[in-house]
Amino acid sequence: MKKEEFLDRYAIERKGTNSLKWDKLEERFGNADLLAAWVADMEFKVPEQVVEALKEKVDHGVFGYTYAPDSYYEAFIGWERERHGYEVKKEWMRFSTGVVTALYWFVNAFTKPEDAVIILSPVYYPFSNAVKDTGRKLVSSELINTGGKYTIDFEDFEKQIIDNDVKLFIHCTPHNPVGRVWTAEEAEKLLSICDKHNVLIVSDEIHHDMTFDDHTHLPSAIVADGKFSERIVTVTAASKTFNLAGLLTSQIIIENEELREQFDRFVKSVNQTEVNLLGMTASEAAFRHGADWLEGLRAVVKSNERYAVEQFAEYAPKLVISPLEGTYLLWIDLRPYIDPEDVKEFVQDTCKLAIDYGEWFGGKSRGFIRLNLGTEPRHIKQAVDSIIEHLPQ
Ligand SMILES: Cc1ncc(COP(=O)(O)O)c(C=O)c1O
Repeated sequence: MKKEEFLDRYAIERKGTNSLKWDKLEERFGNADLLAAWVADMEFKVPEQVVEALKEKVDHGVFGYTYAPDSYYEAFIGWERERHGYEVKKEWMRFSTGVVTALYWFVNAFTKPEDAVIILSPVYYPFSNAVKDTGRKLVSSELINTGGKYTIDFEDFEKQIIDNDVKLFIHCTPHNPVGRVWTAEEAEKLLSICDKHNVLIVSDEIHHDMTFDDHTHLPSAIVADGKFSERIVTVTAASKTFNLAGLLTSQIIIENEELREQFDRFVKSVNQTEVNLLGMTASEAAFRHGADWLEGLRAVVKSNERYAVEQFAEYAPKLVISPLEGTYLLWIDLRPYIDPEDVKEFVQDTCKLAIDYGEWFGGKSRGFIRLNLGTEPRHIKQAVDSIIEHLPQ
């Protein structure tokens, strides 16, 4: 689907709909009149087939306990196979009410209090929360930032693992917020370090479908022909791709039988609930029918990125923008123009924007912002133009 058709059919106003992104601005940012470009969901309706599938359930009018039907497994397994080349087996799959919930479960299930868990910073902030909130020791290896392009400091990563006796690595692939889609070579190097030091890998692949140009997502479990799959626990969802985050449904894949049993024992201890009927219904329909919609969305995100990059290059050439290989989140270094101390005031009070601040993501990220591109071009124009207009020259 072309960008114009996508925008015609799916762009929608969200203010006044109990949207966290739009209707909690006063509470989160102290100003209800900001342009919301923060939390990662979008101003787009889902594919019609998803709405139809949900309507069918709503018309039936019964919302009793449910389970994942065979058709759900088929749809998800087909999507992983066709889009990502990963042949998932039904018996490897488990479910959770969101990816972040799963991250907390994994830390609890696979490590002990005070065990060390490593992340590559900056990274999606619930990663560090999941480690700290569960009483584990947080270890960070800082990514190397070369003119906006981030790479892994393999030497430091290995040293941190050895020095801290790290037990678990939480990996973000593709990477939020720096927009990297790790190459096969990078992934193999990273995972082989974990393998060498007996570190378990949690692979958060929620952004798997949002990649651009010749950047291809490679599920961690099939890196190096599956060489590391026995030490990998994957979590992914339709939620980021298809704007379904409010339906709280995600998939876990655990190939290793012992780890699966360990995981099952843990979730039993916290009395895991059944799956969400509407979340399952919507995700299945999205996996079955969403490919064309997704093409339209990617065209919109790419075009929004191009607008931002071109305008900034022309009118604010010292800004450093990380190349968007994947995700719909643009990582911008404001420091060439704005003192990190003043970023909040500049962004909120002057530009009237609600964005994610770099410091939320840890590492050396004060002075950065993350702009959500999953929205209508007019919003991106407003955000970009406002930043340009108010930057000191
Ligand atoms: C890397 C990553 N993991 C997880 C999530 C959130 O997942 P969920 O809403 O299913 O908890 C996000 C949301 O932006 C994310 O970027």
